[in-house]
Amino acid sequence: MHIYAIVLAAGQGTRMKSKLYKVLHKVCGKPMVKHVVDMLHKVQVDRTVVVVGHGANTVRDTLGDQVEYVLQEQQLGTGHAVLQTAALLENLEGVTLILYGDTPLLTEETIRNLIQVHTQQLAAGTLLTAQMDNPTGYGRIVRNEQGSVLRIVEEKDCSEEERMIKEINTGTYCFNNRQLYEALHQVTNHNAQGEYYVTDVIGILYKAGQHIEGYCISDPEEATGVNDRVALSQVEAVLRKRINKQHMVRGVTFINPDTTYIDADVTIGADTVIHPDCYLRGSTVVGSDCIIGPQTEIIDSILHDGIQVRQSVLDQAEVGMGCTIGPFAYLRPGAKLADKVKIGDFVEVKNSTIGEGSKVPHLSYVGDAHIGKNVNIGCGSITANYDGVQKHVTQIDDNAFIGSNSNLIAPVHIGKGAYVVAGSTITLNVAADDLAIGRAKQTNKPGYAVKLRARINNAGGSGGSVRLPASADNTAE
Ligand code: UD1
Ligand code: CA
Repeated sequence: MHIYAIVLAAGQGTRMKSKLYKVLHKVCGKPMVKHVVDMLHKVQVDRTVVVVGHGANTVRDTLGDQVEYVLQEQQLGTGHAVLQTAALLENLEGVTLILYGDTPLLTEETIRNLIQVHTQQLAAGTLLTAQMDNPTGYGRIVRNEQGSVLRIVEEKDCSEEERMIKEINTGTYCFNNRQLYEALHQVTNHNAQGEYYVTDVIGILYKAGQHIEGYCISDPEEATGVNDRVALSQVEAVLRKRINKQHMVRGVTFINPDTTYIDADVTIGADTVIHPDCYLRGSTVVGSDCIIGPQTEIIDSILHDGIQVRQSVLDQAEVGMGCTIGPFAYLRPGAKLADKVKIGDFVEVKNSTIGEGSKVPHLSYVGDAHIGKNVNIGCGSITANYDGVQKHVTQIDDNAFIGSNSNLIAPVHIGKGAYVVAGSTITLNVAADDLAIGRAKQTNKPGYAVKLRARINNAGGSGGSVRLPASADNTAE
C-alpha cells in the first residue's frame, strides 16, 4: 500500500503577530513545519507534498528537496490548500495523510497508529482527535448516539451545544486517496469564515454512506496546534521535556533538566553529565563521558569523548577527545582543537587549529592561527591577525613556547621548538629552536626611587601636578 502525505504550510499565521511565517517559528531550535516533515520521514511515507503560499521560498529553503511542493496562491482555506495537490496525487491508489505545519508535537508512533486504525477499520477517512479540557479554537467532533463520527464543526460555526464538545479535531487525517479528492471537489465555502474547509470532507463522506473513524490520542498535549505565541511557548516546554527525557533514557545525566535546553537534533553520548543552565543548539554533537556546564552554550559544534567544558560559549567549533575548556572560554567558528588541548579562562579562539596536547591557559586571543602539538601559549599572549584591512595567519610549530604577554603580529611563523621570551612583540619569523626577544631593554637607576619621591613631595606643597599614590607615600616613611 502506498502512503502519501500532504502538509499544509501556506498560511501567514496572523495570530502570531510576526514578520516570520508561522510554520517557520522554531520549537527547540527547529522550524515547526520541519518537525512535521522530519517525523513523516521516519514514518517512511512514499511521497510528501508541502502546500506553500505565504513565504513559499523561505519554506522551500528550510525544507529543501526532501519533499515536493505545490503553491497555493491565495489562502482560501485548508480544503482549498489540499485541493492544490490534485495534479500530483488525485489519480493514485493508496492512503493519504493530511497534517498541518503548526502541530510540531505529533509523534511517529501516533501517525503509525492512525494509519493502522484506518486500514484495519477499512475506513474511507480516519481522523485523529483529542479530548481537551479547554477546546477553544479547535474544530469540534460531532458523533451520533452510536459514537460514529458525523462531521467536524469549526468553532466559529458551532451551535451553543456543539461548543460544549471537548473532543477536538487535531487537523491530522488519513484518507483513502481517491475518496478524498472526490469529496474535496464538493467542499463549498458557505460558512462563518467564507473558507473552503478540509474538515467538511468528513461530513461529505459520511453523508455518502462511507465509514469514518475517529482515533482519539491519549495525550492531548501532542495535538497542540500553534496559532499564537502562548501556544508556541507551551509546545516548546513540552518538547524540551520530551527531548531531555529521551537523552536520560539513553544514558545522559541531567543535574537539572528544568534548566537544560537541548535542540531537537542534538545528539549526546552515554555517561555525559549536563550541569544546569546549558544550551545545546542546532546540529551539535556531544560524545560520551563529557562534563558540560554549568552555564554553557554550544551551537552547531562537534565535541568528541571525555571533554570538560565549563561556563563557556562554543559556536561552530570542533573539540577533540579529552580537551578541557573554560571557565569563560569562547570558541568561535572554525576553532578546531585536536585531542587533549587545554583552553583556559578568558581565551578566545577563532578559525584556528590547535594541535594535540597544546595549552592556551589564560587571557589569550588566537585568530587565524595554526598551532602545532605541545605548544604552550603564555598568559596574555595574542595573535594580532588583523591590520584593519586583511586577516593574516600565524603559524606556530610543534613544541614552541610563547612567553606570557607576547604579541605575535601576523603574518608570522614560529618554528618548531622555538622560544619566544615573555613580553615580546614578534614581527619577524623565528626559526626552529631559536630564541626570540622582542622588547625594549630594561634599565635600572640605583636609588632613584627615593629621589623621585622627594621631588614629588616638594611639588605637592606648591600644588604640583604629580603625586605618588598614598600607599607608596606610606611605605616611604
Ligand atoms: C484548523 C482546523 C480545526 C482544527 C485545528 C487544529 C480547518 C478548517 N480547521 O483550524 O478544525 O481543530 O486546525 O490545529 O481545517 N493553511 C493553508 N492554506 C489555507 C489555510 C490554512 O495552507 O488556505 C495551513 C496553515 O498554514 C496551517 C494549517 O493550514 O498550517 C491550519 O490552518 P489554521 O488557520 O491554523 O487552522 P485552525 O484555525 O487552527
Ligand atoms: Ca492552527
